[in-house]
Amino acid sequence: MIEKDLLRFLTCGSVDDGKSTLIGRLLWDAKLIFDDQRQTLEAESRRLGTAGAEIDFALLLDGLQAEREQGITIDVAYRFFATEKRKFIVADTPGHEQYTRNMATGASTADAAVILVDARKGLLPQTRRHSFIVSLMGIRHVILAINKMDAVDYDEGVFAAIRDDYMAFAAPLGFAGLACLPISALRGDMVYRRGDSMPWYDGPTLMNCLEEIQSGSDAALLPFRMPVQWVCRPDADFRGYCGSVESGRLHVGDRVAVANSGQISTVRRIVTFDGDLQEAVAGEAVNLVLADEIDASRGEMLAAADDRPDSCDQFMAKIIWMHAAPLLPGRKYLMKIGADLVPTQVSEVKYKVNVNTFEETAARSLALNEIGACNVAADRAVAFDPYGKNRGTGRFILVDRYSNATVGAGVIEHALRRATNVHRQKESVDKAARAAIKGQKPCVLWFTGLSGSGKSTLADLVERALHAQGRHTVILDGDNLRHGLNRDLGFTDADRVENIRRVAEVAKLFVEAGLIVLVSLISPFRADRRMARELLGKGEFLEIFVDTPVDICRARDPKGLYAKALAGEIPNFTGVQAPYEPPEAPELRIDGASTEPEVGASRVLALLEAQGFEADSASMA
Ligand code: ADX
Repeated sequence: MIEKDLLRFLTCGSVDDGKSTLIGRLLWDAKLIFDDQRQTLEAESRRLGTAGAEIDFALLLDGLQAEREQGITIDVAYRFFATEKRKFIVADTPGHEQYTRNMATGASTADAAVILVDARKGLLPQTRRHSFIVSLMGIRHVILAINKMDAVDYDEGVFAAIRDDYMAFAAPLGFAGLACLPISALRGDMVYRRGDSMPWYDGPTLMNCLEEIQSGSDAALLPFRMPVQWVCRPDADFRGYCGSVESGRLHVGDRVAVANSGQISTVRRIVTFDGDLQEAVAGEAVNLVLADEIDASRGEMLAAADDRPDSCDQFMAKIIWMHAAPLLPGRKYLMKIGADLVPTQVSEVKYKVNVNTFEETAARSLALNEIGACNVAADRAVAFDPYGKNRGTGRFILVDRYSNATVGAGVIEHALRRATNVHRQKESVDKAARAAIKGQKPCVLWFTGLSGSGKSTLADLVERALHAQGRHTVILDGDNLRHGLNRDLGFTDADRVENIRRVAEVAKLFVEAGLIVLVSLISPFRADRRMARELLGKGEFLEIFVDTPVDICRARDPKGLYAKALAGEIPNFTGVQAPYEPPEAPELRIDGASTEPEVGASRVLALLEAQGFEADSASMA
């Protein structure tokens, strides 16, 4: 059931702005604190003396032990309270810079935001950052609570100056409602009670504001959307699509579409734990039985057939980066959108936004806490609505594929026209046909290793041998490509990722052409070699790790580059200042220190044979 009288809001502020005190105050004055808790709190406050003679409300929020220990808030805590007029869920989100992530999480479901400022300090960079994120996440109502008025003698001038600063700053953000008010969370002034310290202020109290704000997120009014969490098949006769209705409502008999495939069916039953329903509304968990056998697996979205979401593999999004390692265009992350999980890359960072000035500056990657506009390319089409239309279906997170950490959060602005207007052309002559005419099975031999490890020598020997056997081959060598196709790329992490992406795409094209492709590329990052592997068909990618210790490469130094790097003339040289991540499970590892190149080459040829390449080509011939 939709709770009409529920307001979700979040609080944000810097570490010392008094957020915990404010929330403690809200709970305390809402009479949600039991007598024994009151007594303990009074005793603890006296003992610690952190709030002078007053009660330290921050002590109340003991849900997070670490918060007490470090004196900062480190996660999103949701707290519930109510007044006679309304129920509230408040998301207590951290103010510390590195915890932007939690803030974005709290903001994605909130109707309003209370942004706290310390009256003694005025606006801080974090105040601006939080306001920007709040606007980005689609929150329309903002209350700027200028706190600690007691510490500035309740001075009207201090309040007015901060209010004017903020009004000027926030004007371009276009909030539908913006109130600035002076409070003392510690003393309780202008929170529930007006108090008698600020007779000059005749605006609403914080609670007046919170009770009046329209909870605008009425998801029930939007078109029907339901991500399929799982498909329930207890026996052959029953198939139900389970999930939470993200938006809209649905009646038995309504027509629904599978967003990505466009298949349509009719709702036969809406099953819940409490029996069948005639109608389901946003927020409810249901199990839908449809009239037809359709193909909608976990991760798909069911949607109103006559008002469908976009289904597209490329879109433009605003992304907040939340990880210490920067976002690298071209690198594969996992995108979690609705119930769907798709390998995805940011194909281009268009610009980043200075959250203080809203200035858009050119950028190629995003660092921790930076916000940028990006073109995003998913491995396949995903269903979504632009965030401005539907906050539930227009947001996503990016997850690191190795650590599983959430590294970014994004809101989708729109599908890229280039993606919706570009369709795949059918090719009559396909890979198999091209390979057959050459009498071989195409594949990629991907040689990775440090500069000077012997990759190119090895690749050259292998190609000569294959050529002598009448095989059709091509070499993609890092150094050579950097004179042409990749002339515009340097050696930053971002450029190397792009280098690997391009070479992988070209290798794939050559495999399509039926060739045996030999790639010789340092390709220092595991994540991107994996991306290359996944681009190709199963068994088509053979990773050969030319494992030569860096001191041997350095001693060989065929191009004199290690000497230059060590002299500081080349920044970011792999093995000197820049990292190399060795493969964990290559198809072949060659010890570059002890293996003669000819022996190494014959092992590569043996690998090919063992993988069935010779056998296949013989049978084709
Ligand atoms: S990769 O890291 O992006 O895969 P790639 O294989 O294309 O590198 O190019 C590596 C070659 O570029 C090296 O063999 C070396 O000759 C040259 N080079 C120049 N600067 C660097 C650098 N900073 N790090 C590594 N190689 C460099």
